[in-house]
Formats: sequence, structure tokens, C-alpha cells
Amino acid sequence: MLGHKEDRMQIEEYLKKQVETCQCLEPVLQESMAYSLMAGGKRIRPMLTLAFTRLCGGDAEKALPFACAVEMIHTYSLIHDDLPCMDDDALRRGKPTNHTVYGEATALLAGDALLTLAFSCLSQAQLPADRIVRAVGELSHQAGAAGMVGGQSIDLQSQGKNVPIETLFRMDTGKTGALIQAACVLGCLAAGAEEPAIRVAREFAAYVGLAFQIRDDVLDVTGDANALGKNTGMDEERQKSTYVSLLGLTKAQKQAEELSEKAANALQIFGDKAQDLQDFARALAKRES
Ligand code: IPE
Ligand code: IPE
Ligand code: MG
Ligand code: MG
Ligand code: MG
Repeated sequence: MLGHKEDRMQIEEYLKKQVETCQCLEPVLQESMAYSLMAGGKRIRPMLTLAFTRLCGGDAEKALPFACAVEMIHTYSLIHDDLPCMDDDALRRGKPTNHTVYGEATALLAGDALLTLAFSCLSQAQLPADRIVRAVGELSHQAGAAGMVGGQSIDLQSQGKNVPIETLFRMDTGKTGALIQAACVLGCLAAGAEEPAIRVAREFAAYVGLAFQIRDDVLDVTGDANALGKNTGMDEERQKSTYVSLLGLTKAQKQAEELSEKAANALQIFGDKAQDLQDFARALAKRES
């Protein structure tokens, strides 16, 4: 797996502390936030942040608030994605979805609270103020209408339709690519890196983001619900437009692998230091969970 073994533990610890000390006014809301946040996601996005900070010569520990802010927004996006008004899913991260345990209203609020906690988290970073300001700009842009939320909207509008591949590209670049891009760029920003590092991080993330979603779509057909921690076969049931529905399994999987190879190549400029990240990008296209 990606990066240092300790990264994952540090991420878990930091997230736990943030949710415990957020001064939540209502215990049930706090419980619902922690339920999804601490449910054992793969933590791919925060690990990417820490890996890019290291790649750019920065201190990964100082980048933890940036890394965890992205994971909070990702978790909020999953809680909302699973709601009956969106994908209406019952299983997430190996547990019943947030709304099935706490009800739709509390799940909605837990998502809202995680979104805002993410920006509180950024503001607490022990980093120069200009880096924090740039991180706020980047993350808010990638999480919102121009990024994840916009992509989710295309997803809903495309349901039950035959949409062109350009639409699928914009959808996946938004709903999944945007937060992956934020994760990589925030890693560079935490290290105080400038161009060309940030441009390369964006290029890498664009390939990885698309490959990641295509593999997610493939796994919805071929994957194992136990390994994935979520039910399979849902995209077809909900008539989702995906690379798999448009191209078929074989071509979609080939695309994911080609995109991952392109992601790995984008990092050549960093030389041997990028080996971990390159291996990671290639492994993502073949992941089983
Ligand atoms: C799931 O993301 C949603 C997509 C963007 C495809 P992950 O596969 O990273 O989910 P977790 O965080 O490991 O649960
Ligand atoms: C989710 O895409 C993307 C976001 C949550 C932003 P999917 O709807 O395919 O993700 P899963 O399959 O439910 O994890
Ligand atoms: Mg969805
Ligand atoms: Mg979904
Ligand atoms: Mg999916």
C-alpha cells in the first residue's frame, strides 16, 4: 500500500481527535459524524496528500490537517451520496449507511458538519498563513459546484440516459477527480511547493481520479461486496451512466489501466523519489476494494 505504515495510524488518530473535540452541541450528531468518519475507509486521499508533501520535500506531519480535511469532505460526500434521494444505498465501509442508522435528517446534518469541520481543520494547520489560504481556495473550489458537487449533479442528471463519453468524463472528473486533485495539490501546498510541482500533481491526479472511478464502476459489476464494504450491482439497478455501461467491462478496465500508467508517467520529473506514488497509481487500477 501507499506510503509509510505510520501515515494511516496518524490519519486515524487525527480524524478521531478532530471529531471528538469539535464541540458538537448534540451528542447524536457527533455520534453520526464519527460513525462514518471512523468506519475504516481506505484513506487514499489523505495518504496522497502526505505522499505529495514528502515528494515536495515537506514535513508530512504538518500536512496532516490538510490531509484530514480532504478525508472529511470525502466522507461527507459518501454520506450524502448514499441518501435515498441520491444513490439510496444500504451498506458503506462495511456498515449500514449513515441514514439507515441515524435517519435522513441527521445523516444530512452529519455531512454538513463534516464539510465545515474540514475548513476548521485547515485553519488549525501549523503552516504559514499564505499556504492555508491557498489550501482553502483549492479545497473549496474542488469540493463545490466546479468539482465534486457539480460532478454529482451530472451523475443524477445522467441517470437512465445514454450520455456521450464527454459527459461521463466531465462527471467523473468532477465527482471523483476533483477531491483527488485537491488531495494531491494540498500536499504540494503544505510543503510550500510551486510550479512545476503543482502542475504535475494536477496532471497525475486527473489520470488517477478518472482511473479510480472507472475501477469503481468495474468493481460494481465484478467486485465482492465483503471486500468492498458496499453492495454491488447498484449502478445497473439505478440505471447509472458509467464507463462500464457505455464501453463494456473489458474496454472500461483497459482505460483504467492506461490512465494509471499515464499517471505514473506524469511523475517521471521527480525521478526515483516518486516510485511509491507510481506503484500506487498502477495498483489502483487493479484494486479489489
Ligand atoms: C468511494 O471512494 C467513492 C468514489 C469516489 C468511487 P473510496 O473507494 O475511496 O471509498 P473509501 O473512502 O475507501 O470508503
Ligand atoms: C461517488 O460515486 C462519488 C462521490 C461520492 C462524490 P459512486 O456513487 O459511484 O460511489 P460509490 O460506488 O457509491 O462508492
Ligand atoms: Mg453516486
Ligand atoms: Mg454511490
Ligand atoms: Mg460506484
